[in-house]
Amino acid sequence: MGQNKNLVPMSSPDLEASDIEAVLSTLKTNYLSIGPKIIAFEDMFCTFTGAKHAIGVNSGTAGLHLCIRAAGIEQGDYVITTPFSFVSSTNVILFEKAIPIFVDIDKQTGNIDAEQVAQAARDIQLGNPEKAQRWMPRQGDGKTGHLKSILPVDVFGQPADFNKLREVAASHELTLIEDSCEALGAMYEDQPAGMLGDFGVFAFYPNKQITTGEGGMIVTNNDQFAERMRALRNQGRAPGDTWLQHTYLGYNYRLDEMSAALGISQMERVEQLLQKRQQVADWYNTKLSAIKGIETPYITPATTRMSWFVYVIRLDPALDRDRTAEMLISAGIPVRPYFLPIHLQPYIAKQFGYHEGDYPVTEDIGRRSLAVPFSGIMTEAQVDRVCETIQNTLPRV
Ligand SMILES: Cc1ncc(COP(=O)(O)O)c(C=O)c1O
Repeated sequence: MGQNKNLVPMSSPDLEASDIEAVLSTLKTNYLSIGPKIIAFEDMFCTFTGAKHAIGVNSGTAGLHLCIRAAGIEQGDYVITTPFSFVSSTNVILFEKAIPIFVDIDKQTGNIDAEQVAQAARDIQLGNPEKAQRWMPRQGDGKTGHLKSILPVDVFGQPADFNKLREVAASHELTLIEDSCEALGAMYEDQPAGMLGDFGVFAFYPNKQITTGEGGMIVTNNDQFAERMRALRNQGRAPGDTWLQHTYLGYNYRLDEMSAALGISQMERVEQLLQKRQQVADWYNTKLSAIKGIETPYITPATTRMSWFVYVIRLDPALDRDRTAEMLISAGIPVRPYFLPIHLQPYIAKQFGYHEGDYPVTEDIGRRSLAVPFSGIMTEAQVDRVCETIQNTLPRV
């Protein structure tokens, strides 16, 4: 993709000398894993979100997988989720040979359509096979599974419709797993993202609001789930197990001390990091809303604080998104089609028999969306350059 001729990077971590020093000083200690930094990093998340427990892991995917395990999701179980997301939110369901039940999304926010979630839960749980069939993958295994959980995603840093989702989860006794990997710092009706369901998961890849290189964090108020997830993260060692005793089948999902040290240093200025991203989004909102043929992101009133992960525009259906993307890339502006729908990813379409037309809102938005360069360290001049290039490119499409 011609990385070197990019005039602006697609994304950049926001690192300062203090971040680098935090990692270097950790390297000079005896603790490179399972030491004091991970504990301090977790404590910061308890303070930041108000969670009783925070469990550091080595990726957001690992965190979501532990939630799936802790929720007791097994082969053949159903989990209602969104096809408009990064693939991890569905992959963790597949890791346990459970079955993702996709429902389409709200066309304004791009988040899972909570009314459809309610309908799917009712149809599946009330045991009417004909009605339940509507929600099933075209190519199932013919067996009837148990609906266990809902896994919504706070897409692009905007929380899903949790009032409704919580109501559905409570009335059908389902666990609610919040994929908040893109939404650290967001607020839903003044409640922190990550704390809106039974578990929440954040991710810290370098394009995220804070970074640890690779890393993630689970937050929950549930003592039992937290204890189980701590054990599973650490090769299945339950409290009291020695290094070579393993009560459960577990994983090495531990976050190392250098990463945790970077995380602490980043969390110390998380408000500033979020604020800088807000400023860049504000510049884009103003400058792009003047360009015909472009829709800027919609923020619903329930989102009392947006946490900008990426800045994704939607093009008018009359414009050719892929051609626009090519032209912008060749003009030195990297852009990405966010998201290619999960149900159409080759391995999912093959396993479950999905094809175009199955989730029309997801497909329409997936077809028209473009993420533009975005980070907290972008300057207004860089934003201007992106916007001007878009303006000059669009009419010629
Ligand atoms: C919605 C969503 N879920 C899960 C993940 C997975 O996080 P990680 O890359 O840390 O495994 C991401 C990361 O980009 C994401 O955007």
